[in-house]
Amino acid sequence: MSLITRTFDFPENLTQAIALNLKDWNCDISDAKYLAKSILRLSDFYADNPKAMTPWNQDWAVAAYISYYFPLNWMRSFAVFQEGQRWSFFSGLENIIDFGSGLGSGSWPALVENKLSAQFIELSSVAQQIHRSLLALSVAEKEIANYQWLKQVGQNFLVPPASLGVFSYSLTEVIELPSWATQLEKLLIIEPATRDDGRRLMETRSKLLQQGWHIVAPCTHQGLCPLLTHSKSDWCHDRIHWKMPTWFQEIEKHLPIKNSTLTFSYLLATKTPSHQAKISDRKLTTQLARITGDHLPEKGKTRQLVCRGEAREYLAWMSRHGEFPEIPRGVLIEWPDDGESKSNEIRLRKNPKIL
Ligand SMILES: C[S@@+](CC[C@H](N)C(=O)[O-])C[C@H]1O[C@@H](n2cnc3c(N)ncnc32)[C@H](O)[C@@H]1O
Repeated sequence: MSLITRTFDFPENLTQAIALNLKDWNCDISDAKYLAKSILRLSDFYADNPKAMTPWNQDWAVAAYISYYFPLNWMRSFAVFQEGQRWSFFSGLENIIDFGSGLGSGSWPALVENKLSAQFIELSSVAQQIHRSLLALSVAEKEIANYQWLKQVGQNFLVPPASLGVFSYSLTEVIELPSWATQLEKLLIIEPATRDDGRRLMETRSKLLQQGWHIVAPCTHQGLCPLLTHSKSDWCHDRIHWKMPTWFQEIEKHLPIKNSTLTFSYLLATKTPSHQAKISDRKLTTQLARITGDHLPEKGKTRQLVCRGEAREYLAWMSRHGEFPEIPRGVLIEWPDDGESKSNEIRLRKNPKIL
C-alpha cells in the first residue's frame, strides 16, 4: 500500500516566465527536441566535469538551465520551503543571501513568500540578468529594488542582521561553506542526491553542530548522523512528487532521464533553536522520526530505514501480519508506540502517523 504524499504543482506564472525568457535565446518552449539536446549536452558536461562551473557563456547551456535545471531546482527548493514552514523556519528573518544563486531557484519560494530583501551572489552576469528578468515577471517592481546582485564577496563580507543563507546546488561547486556563513542566523542548503554530495552535506551538518548550530530538518535530533557513523555508503536524501507541466513532459519524451519524482539532500539549520517551540505548539508529546529509506522487501518481512537519533534503525513489517504500508521517503512520522524492538528493527503492526 503506497501512501503518496507531498505532490507539488509547478506554478503557471513560472511556465510563462520561462517561455518568455527562452525567446531571448531564440528558443521556443515548445521546441522540445532542441531543448532536450541542449539538456543532454549540459548533463554530459556536469558528468564529465563534476567540479566545473555552469558554462553560462554558451547559448545551449543557458536554454538547458532555463528549461530544465531551473524548474527542477525550483520544485526541490519549494519542497524544502514547505518543510521549513512546518517549523516557522522563516519567521524573524529580514534578508536572504543566496550564494551561487544562478537563476534564483534556491531562494525563490522563501523570498517571494516572505517579502525579504536579498543579496544574490553569482559570478555569471548572464545568470544574473536572466534571474532578474524571471523575477521581474513574477514579483512587484518595488520588491526588485530590495534585491542586489553581487559577482563575488570576500572573506570580510558583512552579513546583514537576521539573514538566511541559501546554498542551492552551489556547495557542490565551492566544496565548503564560506567563512562569512558564521554570521548568518539560518541556513538552507540543498545538494544533489548523490552519494558524494549527500555524505559531504552530512559532514557539513556535523561541523555546524560542533559550532553550536541547531538542525531543524530533515533531522529530528541533534546527535551524530547514524548514516555517517554506521555506514560508509549511505547518504540521507529526500524524494518528492510533482505535477510535471505539459511542455516539460514533451521535453522528457526525448530524454533518457525521467523526473516523475525528484530527489535531493537538504539541511535547514538555525543558530537559535526556536523551532522547538513550534513542536510544543502542536502538542506533540510523542517523539518524531524521519523516514530515510525506500521500502526493502526481504524474505518474510519488509523494512524501511528510519531516523530519530544516533542509531541506524529500520521500521519492519512481518509478512505474516499482512499488508505493509510503503511510507514515502522523507516524510516525518510520530514514533509508533506499538513497536516491538528486535536488534536494529522496530517491528510494527499498525501504520505510523504521517505528519
Ligand atoms: C549549479 S549552479 C546552481 C544555481 C542555483 N543556485 C540553483 O539552485 O539552480 C551553481 C552556481 O554557482 C555559481 N558560482 C560558483 N562559484 C561561485 C562563486 N565563488 N561565487 C559566486 N557564484 C559562484 C555558478 O556561476 C552557478 O551559477
